Amino acid sequence: MDITTEQSAFRADLLSGKTAIVTGASRGIGAAIAHRLCESGANVVLCSRSAESVAQIADTLQSKGYVTYAMAANISEKADVEALIEKTLDQFSQIDILVNNAGITRDMLLMRLKDEDWDAVLQTNLTGTMYCTRAVLRPLIRQKSGRIINISSVVGLVGNAGQANYAAAKAGIIGFTKATAKEVATRGITVNAIAPGFITTDMTAQIPEEHQKQLLELIPLREFGHPEDVADAVCFLASDAARYITGQILQVDGGMVM
Ligand SMILES: NC(=O)c1ccc[n+]([C@@H]2O[C@H](COP(=O)([O-])OP(=O)(O)OC[C@H]3O[C@@H](n4cnc5c(N)ncnc54)[C@H](OP(=O)(O)O)[C@@H]3O)[C@@H](O)[C@H]2O)c1
Repeated sequence: MDITTEQSAFRADLLSGKTAIVTGASRGIGAAIAHRLCESGANVVLCSRSAESVAQIADTLQSKGYVTYAMAANISEKADVEALIEKTLDQFSQIDILVNNAGITRDMLLMRLKDEDWDAVLQTNLTGTMYCTRAVLRPLIRQKSGRIINISSVVGLVGNAGQANYAAAKAGIIGFTKATAKEVATRGITVNAIAPGFITTDMTAQIPEEHQKQLLELIPLREFGHPEDVADAVCFLASDAARYITGQILQVDGGMVM
């Protein structure tokens, strides 16, 4: 995706001195999150499976004067996740914010859903989120502070025909967020999730135009969200303004689910 020049709602020093990891940062919502975190003053480590596309986003951000580091990592592989955390600590000596954004869809009605499409979606969206969160806990607990922000979906709250695998993974992220929030609250770490509605990215571009029109009718604000809408919510949850919020699911959906 193109990195927009839209004005950020946040001060440049909101997250200054903080180091953030954003998974799935090579396009769409993840790229927008990386951009907003940079604008807010954070050093940002971007990862995705494709070294080339994630490096391209990181280079664009660097050319604007931001501090970034790009790395190929498949979050569904434990060894890749461990390397991601190790490399981040090598580069920046600390981790303050983890944004578990990487995700995939393999849509199909349940009767025809292949085992491998169930497994792939659960392994990436849910197990990958667990791998990254578990790996980052030790450094966060050591420094007695940290912010973990998981990207779920409204589909995890209300379900969606043809997305049993995706809905199960995204609902799993909600339970995972609350359980982890309870485990680490006394360590100064907050864990929250964002449940976006329909956001215009490559993921939603696959939805047929006719279905998109029907979906628009379900959105009280009558427009699809932009990746930056999710990114702004991430920056809020990562900031001191959200210090007293944990275990919550923040919907960014134009009122689609209420
Ligand atoms: N768009 C929406 O309307 C919407 C709504 C609700 C929730 N969400 C959630 O928001 C997140 C981002 O969605 P999006 O619309 O921006 O999707 P997208 O445009 O398809 O981007 C997905 C990103 O995740 C990366 N990725 C996929 N599998 C990965 C893996 N195993 N390891 C590391 N990176 C991986 C992709 O890069 P590579 O292909 O290079 O790995 C890409 O950077 C997802 O979790 C999605 O479920 C989106």
